[in-house]
Amino acid sequence: MKPLRKAVFPVAGLGTRFLPATKAMAKEMLPVVDKPLIQYAVEEARAAGIEQFCMVTGRGKTALVEHFDIAFELEATLRDRDKQDALRNLDGTLVEPGSMVTVRQQVPLGLGHAIWCARAFIGDDPFAVLLPDDLVLADTPCLAQLAAAYRQTGGNVVAVTEVPREHTSRYGILKTGADDGRLVEVTGLVEKPKPAEAPSTLSIIGRYVLMPEVIGELARMDRGAGGEVQLTDGMARLIGRQPFHGLRYEGRRFDCGDKAGFLEAQIAFALKHPELAPAVRAFLRRYVEG
Ligand code: G1P
Repeated sequence: MKPLRKAVFPVAGLGTRFLPATKAMAKEMLPVVDKPLIQYAVEEARAAGIEQFCMVTGRGKTALVEHFDIAFELEATLRDRDKQDALRNLDGTLVEPGSMVTVRQQVPLGLGHAIWCARAFIGDDPFAVLLPDDLVLADTPCLAQLAAAYRQTGGNVVAVTEVPREHTSRYGILKTGADDGRLVEVTGLVEKPKPAEAPSTLSIIGRYVLMPEVIGELARMDRGAGGEVQLTDGMARLIGRQPFHGLRYEGRRFDCGDKAGFLEAQIAFALKHPELAPAVRAFLRRYVEG
């Protein structure tokens, strides 16, 4: 079994749900408390042993790449002024020289197409996919849980969670086989089914460990839900040929592609922040008590 060392971050989306905030700024640069969404995703990947990072970007996304570069003037100024705390705050933004690459998704043809755009980076290796919109608060980072499940099963693993049946049309949904309560065998996958047609209410969140063979399936460019090339459809074609499991991860997921989910993430992460938590708890109490 090959070790998991590569991760792909699809970040070419237009962020239409966050306009006007995202008119001139990548939605993945929106901060939750004090860190942009993309940095949470990169740090989570690193914590799972990922050493090579590929961002699938588009026009207007250069800030995402800048964020993980050395900021020489800023760092020199902070050193001159002996601002050690501020310097330490930059630690999570540093990646090994040469370990982060970008490819462009020139046309918005869907998540499956975005992953296919990273095919030269992926090569013949297993790879992770992290959608930065999905933020997971967990003791063991979500991707590390998936990586452990990959080492156990030797195949594709997606992070899954139960959703209300009326929400199935927002997600990729599993058809399930053998289930030990944590790992569940995937026997089918449907992208955004109507509630009445959903084979279960177990949905995929934006964390995947996939085998490179999915690229060959995505290359067919079959259009699925919403007229897009869906990653879910490419993955579905691997079922029966390779191990494929869903992992009920431990942790809480926030959909930061949605305004309410994004605001909830701010509160949840602020309440975990040692310096902020007391003040936030106090003002929340004031709002709730009116
Ligand atoms: C994508 C995937 C979907 C998955 C979801 C998780 O959908 O296509 O299968 O359940 O991410 O966030 P999107 O949110 O891009 O519509």
